[in-house]
Amino acid sequence: MLDLKRQYQPLQQELLEALQHVLETQQFILGEPVAAFESSAARQLGVKHAIGCSSGTDALWLALAAAGIGAGDTVITTPFSFFASVSAIFRAGARPILADIDPVTFNLDPNAVETLLKSPQQIPVRAVLPVHLYGQCADWDGFSELSRKHGLKLIEDAAQAWGAEWQGKKAGGLGDAAAFSFYPTKNLSAAGDAGMVTTNSDETAERARMLRQHGMRRRYHHDEIGWNTRLDGFQGAVLQVKLKYIAGWNERRRTIAKRYRALFHAKGIAKSGSFPRHGIVLPLEVPGAHHVWHQYVIRCARRDALREFLAARKIGSEIYYPVPLHMQTAFKSLGYREGDFPESERAAREVLALPIFPELREEEQKTVVDAIADFLT
Ligand SMILES: Cc1ncc(COP(=O)(O)O)c(C=O)c1O
Repeated sequence: MLDLKRQYQPLQQELLEALQHVLETQQFILGEPVAAFESSAARQLGVKHAIGCSSGTDALWLALAAAGIGAGDTVITTPFSFFASVSAIFRAGARPILADIDPVTFNLDPNAVETLLKSPQQIPVRAVLPVHLYGQCADWDGFSELSRKHGLKLIEDAAQAWGAEWQGKKAGGLGDAAAFSFYPTKNLSAAGDAGMVTTNSDETAERARMLRQHGMRRRYHHDEIGWNTRLDGFQGAVLQVKLKYIAGWNERRRTIAKRYRALFHAKGIAKSGSFPRHGIVLPLEVPGAHHVWHQYVIRCARRDALREFLAARKIGSEIYYPVPLHMQTAFKSLGYREGDFPESERAAREVLALPIFPELREEEQKTVVDAIADFLT
């Protein structure tokens, strides 16, 4: 599914030198290696502020809290994401409510959000948290319009979307604040857990810096109850090295995605339309989006059988995500039931992520496509 050693080998010398520098300067928490990464990252994304922290999960909490979202607030997000998209809203003290996804992009559907906003219950909503799932930005034209009309804050879950763009603008600078994850499988990855908040607001950035260090503006004077969620020097140093290569890696992912499309079409097994009955449906890059293909996710009606078939041929695949968030035991208190979000539930039954990473070889891709063709025929 993913061979991280292929990325490490050509970078080995550069990474070891960067880590050695941290050891020599003994700046293990925040400090110069993290500050250098933060300013390079902000420059690359075209945002004013980047604030490193311990994980993407913490970045989501920190982005919400720094943007002033907390107790008494309601935040709308998607049921088709990683657990943290919803758990971070709880952690911030706010109440999550869910709206269904667009079946083509798998991203939160602004129309579904608007329906909720207009519901007779008139729930006062403070913010929307769209997720740029699989590396493609959520429909930001739609969400910007909703934000203007309803006075909502927009917080991006950009965990999977380093380098993704919407209408030429990079993820991370689209909303009021954004959260990135540098979990080792992400497009831009640390050598452990790491995350980052980005924002163009001076006030939000200042609050994020304060909240990631126990609410301290002055040493041992605590203005608010924050948390310890700082980025460590080793991770900052590793990320600073990889930042130089990420644009090229994302381009390779785009080439691989294009090649998958061509190979599947050549086999005649890719079906048009949103849902497969026979064959498979391929993922799309929508107009206005610059997809960075964190995952290449197909739909298949006989998904579980296909996954077993691939596993028997030693081909890795993964299901992101098999249980929609409204069906998670941990979120029972939200009061949702099966059937509440049919598009998310259908996606959870049909999606299958195929191997995609910059160093994936053409012959390996052909093996994947041949195996899927064999399964279908
Ligand atoms: C969409 C999404 N949100 C949040 C996270 C949480 O990031 P982390 O694993 O770095 O805490 C992830 C990563 O797993 C993710 O994919």
